[in-house]
Amino acid sequence: MSKHIAILPGDGIGPEIIAQAVRVLDKLIAEGLDADYQYAPLGGAAYDEYGHPYPEFTQNICRQVDAILLGAVGGPQYDKLERPLRPERGLLAIRKDLNLFGNLRPAILYPELANASTLKPEVVSGLNILIVRELTGDIYFGEPRGIHTLPNGEREGINTMRYSESEIRRIGKIAFEAAQKRNKKLCSVDKANVLETTELWREIITDISRDYPDVSVTHMYVDNAAMQLVKAPKQFDVIVTGNIFGDILSDQASMLSGSIGMLPSASLNEIGKGMYEPSHGSAPDIAGQNLANPLATILSLAMLLRYSLYNEHAAQRIEQAVGKVLAQGLRTSDIFEEGCQRVSCSQMGDAVLAAL
Ligand code: NAD
Ligand code: IPM
Ligand code: MN
Repeated sequence: MSKHIAILPGDGIGPEIIAQAVRVLDKLIAEGLDADYQYAPLGGAAYDEYGHPYPEFTQNICRQVDAILLGAVGGPQYDKLERPLRPERGLLAIRKDLNLFGNLRPAILYPELANASTLKPEVVSGLNILIVRELTGDIYFGEPRGIHTLPNGEREGINTMRYSESEIRRIGKIAFEAAQKRNKKLCSVDKANVLETTELWREIITDISRDYPDVSVTHMYVDNAAMQLVKAPKQFDVIVTGNIFGDILSDQASMLSGSIGMLPSASLNEIGKGMYEPSHGSAPDIAGQNLANPLATILSLAMLLRYSLYNEHAAQRIEQAVGKVLAQGLRTSDIFEEGCQRVSCSQMGDAVLAAL
């Protein structure tokens, strides 16, 4: 049965990087992959067209398809809009609407990029970490929230960190199962010394760990985890953490793999439906210049094929093609180093297609 994919280019560099991933998808379809796709707007592009960052048009398509490929959303021209209309709210809304609570962000260092990282090659070589970030709870969604005026006339901003037991259990299960398929080491990151929400987090993760006796679990405070990630990143196999800590730690981990332009992600619900997107944003500083690194998006397409289309072979073909172009010495500006050939976003797409 043919699989249906929604493509959401988004804003900034989104359309440029998505165009390269779609060329790869087109080639796979031409060679017999049983899938089709349609475009829909999200974020600022959707606000421009429909007056809302996650309009009904996009909702209807995204609820029906098997998988979604997203570029990125956001841009300075939208930062003055009232909050519910901002592009970032569209992204949070689609994650919540489709219950995409399980966010997988693999930070893998391709050996060819050992010198692209700002850390010493021996610290990062061979690095392969999976960050499992909870994506539909925490301070991102907790109520009450907002900015209100106190009796004395000054304003106060409020956000609420909260997690229910069941939310912690379901993300914990994803993380333990991922660890079982890898090196069987799970580090749960929290701030249980200060925050009750994460005290409960630690208690529940400890409780679930009894069901996975083959996985060794450690717990680490988030401040220490941030330090350990740059000091000795290879001590980690799978990291599981909440929404806000996962957001920050995954950007940090991206630099271990050379550039944020290399880090793909999958956001999954309980039934294998997923949204796939690079972990970076819309990079307004380089948008429209054909400079962006499309590899995180192309690698996100590989994750889409693996987790939602159950096509491991096609996923590996893409990942190997990416390895090949890096071995050929082709680099976009974000991963450029002396002795390599600097290429544009679309030239990188050309090279991946040729290597496929
Ligand atoms: P960003 O990730 O867009 O950019 C940070 C830096 O990394 C910039 O210097 C940018 O040029 C560079 N960069 C990012 N992706 C790159 C790529 N593929 N190739 C080369 N360089 C790349 O983060 P930001 O500047 O904090 O945010 C910009 C906008 O993106 C904001 O509106 C923000 O809300 C939004 N954002 C969206 C997402 C998403 O859609 N998932 C994620 C993060 C930020
Ligand atoms: C990400 C982004 C989003 C997040 C923003 C744009 C809402 O930073 O996908 O990492 O914070 O989750
Ligand atoms: Mn982020």
